[in-house]
Amino acid sequence: MKKILFAGAEAMPFAATGGLGDVLGSLPAALSDTGECDVRVVLPLYESVSEDFRRKMKQEAVFNVRLSWREQYCGVWSLVRNGVTYYFLDNEYYFRRPSLYGYFDDGERYAYYCMAVMELMWRLGFYPDILHAHDWQAALTVVYLNCLYRSRPGYENIRTVFTIHNIEYQGQYDFSILGDVFALGENEHTLMENDGCINLMKAAIECADRVTTVSPRYAEEIRTAEYAHGLESSLNRNAQKLCGILNGIDYEYYDPEHDPAIAAPFTRRALSGKVRDKAAMQKECGLSVRRDVPMLSVISRLAAHKGLDLVEGCIDAIVSQNDIQFIILGRGEDRYERFFTDLQNRYPDRVRALIAYDRDLSKRVYAATDIFLMPSRTEPCGLSQMIASRYGAIPVVRETGGLFDSIKPYWSDEKGIHGNGFTFSGYRCEELRERTEAAISLWRDVPARRKLLSRIMQTDFSWNSSAGSYLELYRGL
Ligand code: GLC
Repeated sequence: MKKILFAGAEAMPFAATGGLGDVLGSLPAALSDTGECDVRVVLPLYESVSEDFRRKMKQEAVFNVRLSWREQYCGVWSLVRNGVTYYFLDNEYYFRRPSLYGYFDDGERYAYYCMAVMELMWRLGFYPDILHAHDWQAALTVVYLNCLYRSRPGYENIRTVFTIHNIEYQGQYDFSILGDVFALGENEHTLMENDGCINLMKAAIECADRVTTVSPRYAEEIRTAEYAHGLESSLNRNAQKLCGILNGIDYEYYDPEHDPAIAAPFTRRALSGKVRDKAAMQKECGLSVRRDVPMLSVISRLAAHKGLDLVEGCIDAIVSQNDIQFIILGRGEDRYERFFTDLQNRYPDRVRALIAYDRDLSKRVYAATDIFLMPSRTEPCGLSQMIASRYGAIPVVRETGGLFDSIKPYWSDEKGIHGNGFTFSGYRCEELRERTEAAISLWRDVPARRKLLSRIMQTDFSWNSSAGSYLELYRGL
């Protein structure tokens, strides 16, 4: 059995703020289900990890972690879930805080985390065949392995994979803290440097045996300056180790047939529950309860790269010129929160702006949605278009990253229908509007809608095939 150790900053259901949490909450179990690996995951013990889980944890070890002149306590707790062992690193000074990220000392917090991951191996006697690190917060594990641990017994043969979930967040710091915070010396200067500052993601790209990202298309995109946020030369230099593997979603957690979070269950063959889910949502947010009006939605972190300025640029026209309802659910940048709240004020009988991050509420909105908009400027993979498809919504997406790989344009001929959504390529409001209105027309054509929905809901977005791709990658190492 292959031993795989995952390092990353969040995982469902323990602590999550976005897609990374979904992936680290479901990929390890999918790998473990293949019967070919012993998968373990190391997470910080954040304050938000519930009492329920804490009660079930077992203490594995207590030791100190050295980071330059610091000596910090580290308690290791474990919990087995769906065949995967989760280790939680307990240090109240670093992790007992209301949020996961966003602190002045995030660099130090995750340097501590990474050093603790390396220490944990010999303390627990668990030396993985593969260390699989995710995003900048875990990048230093790969660096510490190569620079500090490689010659120690047990560490010599560990192979490494580094996965980029979003290249926008790289972990960039001033060189003045290279020794003091990251416990690295001047010898590592070149390795750690990009554009004049420390760049943790860049260093992991250089050190890892394989670099992956979360869709094949994004793996190509990030080799260009337009997408790479300054890492294109590093990625091109390491192109032979780079590949893209499309994410899956957790088919048990996202299952409209058995989802306790939604008002009525439904399946591809029996969609009447979806009609009730829409009615329940309309009631819940005080919109008129009508089944003949399509429900459009956006469920997203309110960040610029999600393409919200495209929505801003055409939503007034769409809402005022079509008989539709529109819900936006998400939290994020002020300017978008204000824009959508204001939109609701302008169209109180058609629009709801739900400024929140709430997983159960998001499932109720997915279940109620007929047409799901995701016009991202960039999208490493994107999970929402997959979740929306599973919940019987027609996706309208921009052809970028994982959206390009997962949603193919709809068209029909005498042989039948093709594709599983509406797509456009230019980053232009007109294109989003045109495709959205095409989706609205299709929705109004009931037989065509039924056929397309059946196809959409049959598309396999589970981990089935992608877990296999990771196994193959591990075997190759
Ligand atoms: C990040 C990306 C998103 C991806 C997710 C999981 O949140 O922005 O596109 O689906 O990571 O890999």
